[in-house]
Amino acid sequence: MFVIKKNISLKPNNTFGIDVSTRYFARANTVEKIIYSINFASYNRLPIYVLGGGSNVLLTSDIEGVVVNSAINGIAMIEESGSDVTLSVGAGVVWDDFVAFAVQKGWGGVENLSYIPGCVGAAPIQNIGAYGVEAEKSIIKVEYIDIAKRKLEEINHSECRFGYRDSIFKQELKGKVIITNVWFRLSKKLEFRVDYGSLQTEVAKLGEVTLSNIRNAVIDVRKRKLPDPKEVGNAGSFFKNPIVEVEVYRDLKVKFPEMPFYQLSDSLVKIPAGWLIEQAGWKGKRVGNCGVHQKQALVIVNYGGATGKEILAFAKSIQESVASTFGLELEMEVNIL
Ligand code: FAD
Ligand code: EPU
Repeated sequence: MFVIKKNISLKPNNTFGIDVSTRYFARANTVEKIIYSINFASYNRLPIYVLGGGSNVLLTSDIEGVVVNSAINGIAMIEESGSDVTLSVGAGVVWDDFVAFAVQKGWGGVENLSYIPGCVGAAPIQNIGAYGVEAEKSIIKVEYIDIAKRKLEEINHSECRFGYRDSIFKQELKGKVIITNVWFRLSKKLEFRVDYGSLQTEVAKLGEVTLSNIRNAVIDVRKRKLPDPKEVGNAGSFFKNPIVEVEVYRDLKVKFPEMPFYQLSDSLVKIPAGWLIEQAGWKGKRVGNCGVHQKQALVIVNYGGATGKEILAFAKSIQESVASTFGLELEMEVNIL
């Protein structure tokens, strides 16, 4: 029997470890159960919120609504050719289990995205990325339930309008759909990407460039740099790296000659927010129960007992400080609920 639980603490369901509750929690592992949960919310005139692994959210108050967890499991082979495989992966599959499976099978495309927390259903939302690769490279289709129509629909890669930490699911479709399955095309003809930062050196320490050495090198670097949510609450990068016009970058470079940058195109430059936050004096700084991680200034941590509102206020002071020091606006990556 499908049970929608009442008055549940969400503390185990968010990696910041914020202790708020939800009126109802529905862990739905089939399309029918998701639609049942939508009907339940509608009948009770309650709003719906979707939660996967809770590794990219900041919960700021109790939820007077129905939290739906799209827990559809399974990895199905749709098509296989000499050069690639097409897989349909359930939204509830743990992202890193999927990556480990692909690497073990010898299929390339997602190995650089090893060890990112969360579930497959959230991967298209912000087009997860790391070490020079974004999920959109392998995503060919996304299936979801349209909440208003209560109907299963699908959109292809180009309709997803993927960008840097962005997609249609953070824009027009925000709050309107529940993703059920994501289709990936992975390659049997391997093309490795090891040109990000020190990745090549890290892979070389393990031996040849192979899928599993890339995976293990990425895991090693991530374990060194990023705090483990099981030990200290966090949601990865709190802000996005700002993208500015080349003219803005040139003016800043005169004032701050050490400022690192990545040229994205002739007209656009990405500036690492971690550098801006560190230069503004926030790295390792603690205020009350939260602070900026000592090894990565882009990560805000909950030292224990912080409320979502406290973390949000802290994040806003960082935004104000970076704006007054550099004249740049930091956009939050984390979804505020
Ligand atoms: P949640 O946090 O539960 O949800 C995120 C958003 O997606 C919410 O708005 C939610 O409503 C929505 N959502 C979730 N599932 C569904 C669904 N099925 N249908 C519709 N909407 C849905 N991200 C990166 O891109 N790169 C990184 O390198 C990276 N490193 C991280 C490191 C750490 C230590 C942590 C804690 C986080 C990191 N993240 C990173 C952020 C996070 O892991 C990803 O954004 C991940 O995809 C979130 O998955 P989730 O299942 O936890 O989503
Ligand atoms: N930097 C500093 N100080 C810091 C942190 C970074 O000066 O404390 C500067 C350095 O110049 C460094 C550069 O920033 O070379 C880039 O740092 P890093 O390689 O750690 O990457 P990032 O830009 O801080 C991004 C993603 C991460 C992803 C890594 C690796 C965003 C918002 N964040 O971080 O994604 O894992 O690259 O690819 O794009 C996430 O989204 O949650 C996340 C963790």
